[in-house]
Amino acid sequence: MCKEPIGIFDSGIGGTSIFKEINTLLPYEAIIYLADSKNAPYGNKSAEDILQLSIKNTELLINKGCKVIVVACNTATTNAIDYLRKNYNTPFIGIEPAIKPASLKTTTKSIGILATKGTLSSSLFHETSNLYSKGITIIERIGEGIVPLIEAGKIDSDEMRNLLLTYTQPMLDANIDYLVLGCTHYPYLIPLLTKILPQHIKIIDSGLAVAKQTKSILEQACLLNKDRSIPKIELYTNKDTTILENILNHKFKATFLDF
Ligand code: DGL
Repeated sequence: MCKEPIGIFDSGIGGTSIFKEINTLLPYEAIIYLADSKNAPYGNKSAEDILQLSIKNTELLINKGCKVIVVACNTATTNAIDYLRKNYNTPFIGIEPAIKPASLKTTTKSIGILATKGTLSSSLFHETSNLYSKGITIIERIGEGIVPLIEAGKIDSDEMRNLLLTYTQPMLDANIDYLVLGCTHYPYLIPLLTKILPQHIKIIDSGLAVAKQTKSILEQACLLNKDRSIPKIELYTNKDTTILENILNHKFKATFLDF
């Protein structure tokens, strides 16, 4: 079982921000990554549709023998992880917007959260947000249109810049000092956000935390691979292999799979 791969899925190429952290922290682990780009974005879909897509991805990874599954998508985690944990024996690691660290560290008592509609409207997000919002202003914005642009390879474009300026303006007006990136596609926007935002605003994403959590789950279950040879990395997309390879700077090959 130790040699079996870690399964990772996302609505598209965004979860590669998590894949990279896991591959760096756990270099001897085999990984299977699923980019469900054909169905991206998940963010505007109903909770039921997000659940059904998450089940489809999970079953594919389980059928491929994955020992754990990382739901590298805030939208899928907040809408489906409870169901997945209850219905499959495989351990699941999810990702949620990092409201807690931002709320604990803010000195202006004002933080911004950029995420999808599906994440911001989920009950899991509301529970976490209510838990940490005492005495803090949380400015939420739906990143409408951002994921399709990233999926089209238009990360550093004028369209993207305009969207980010629009979504962050109310946050600047509210004097935020932390911006939480609540979608795994968004870490790819950090270079552009750093140019747009005033220097004192810190950007938080949860990629490294998810990789650490994955390591700790594998340790606890005695599932870390002890073999020190180079592991197999498999990347599958149901859309464009070039876009997936581009975002990973052509370090890995992607395969088309109709799932
Ligand atoms: N990467 C996603 C997330 O973390 C997906 C967004 C989408 O497909 O709308 O929420």
